[in-house]
Amino acid sequence: MSTSHAVTPERVMQLGLGFWASKTLLSAIELGLFTKLANGPLSAAELTTRLNLHQRSAKDFFDTLVSLGMLERESDRYQNTAETAQFLVRTSPSYIGGMLEMANERLYPFWGSLTEALHTGAPQNEAKTGGPGLFENLYSDPNKLRLFLGAMTGLSFGSARAIAEKFPWKDYKTVVDVGGAQGGLLVQVCLAHSHLRGTNFDLPMVGPIFDEYAASHGLSDRLKFQNGNFFKEPLPSADVITMGHILHDWNLDEKRMLIEKAYKALPAGGALIVFESLIDDERRTNSFGLLMSLNMLIETPGGFDYTGKDCMEWMRAAGFRETRVEHLLGPDSMVVGIK
Ligand SMILES: C[S@@+](CC[C@H](N)C(=O)[O-])C[C@H]1O[C@@H](n2cnc3c(N)ncnc32)[C@H](O)[C@@H]1O
Repeated sequence: MSTSHAVTPERVMQLGLGFWASKTLLSAIELGLFTKLANGPLSAAELTTRLNLHQRSAKDFFDTLVSLGMLERESDRYQNTAETAQFLVRTSPSYIGGMLEMANERLYPFWGSLTEALHTGAPQNEAKTGGPGLFENLYSDPNKLRLFLGAMTGLSFGSARAIAEKFPWKDYKTVVDVGGAQGGLLVQVCLAHSHLRGTNFDLPMVGPIFDEYAASHGLSDRLKFQNGNFFKEPLPSADVITMGHILHDWNLDEKRMLIEKAYKALPAGGALIVFESLIDDERRTNSFGLLMSLNMLIETPGGFDYTGKDCMEWMRAAGFRETRVEHLLGPDSMVVGIK
């Protein structure tokens, strides 16, 4: 009898203990390990001293990262891999560690209460102990705000580049990014298309951090900030309106309301682009999209992720005459609605 299809517990164990590997990477980012290696290899002893690690833990920590493909080792010297050099060195323009810094600081402890969230349907972040909601909390502390906005840039970097490449920007002149955070999307789109002008419509506290980021890319003359609250005010008009990782923060009525506001703010022929890690229509394969939805359970009172089909239905109901879904990168897709 063939044993090639023997059932083994390997996958179950690997997934069940997946947090070991995850937390090892998150601690390495927290410690700035990859940044310390930016200028070249270091010995175990040098790294141990620079990261202020205990002798007992250091070598296992480094070699675990080697075995996970996050470091390389030659004799006793450790160096970044191509991936960690590009994405996890803090001074790199393509640093995506902000999202993982936030995962380490906030999400890791909050996800410890997932079972409770599954029973109660209630958020497990600061709101649980009577604290303010997600955005109120983040925005009351400048360090948390910076960490969160940097995290969003990291999370959206790949999709922002894909949107810059895939959407027919030559047919449009102006774009408003609703809840554009630090400006990750607007910067990539405007760097790629010199005729475009963009506006970030976001809460007032975000303004200075956005302005600084736009200036650091030489785009201050084409990118501006408009502060506002999308629950209280209409959206600014533009040829294209974008919403990245916005709709999943809110409940169904709020999602529909935001799509309707976008419809009103667009001219005939204008486009709404919604992008995030959409759940596949069959709700079977995009684990990242589904896990993101559980993350919204942890972080928000009513937010949830959704499929491309769901979003196209909401767009049609708001009046959009054409809708389509296009894959961007990894788990991310965009839904485009044409008025
Ligand atoms: C999850 S982040 C998404 C950031 C960015 N669009 C991206 O995809 O990386 C949500 C953004 O919505 C903004 N936001 C939250 N509530 C808002 C409101 N009531 N009015 C305007 N912006 C809001 C936040 O400040 C934040 O920048």
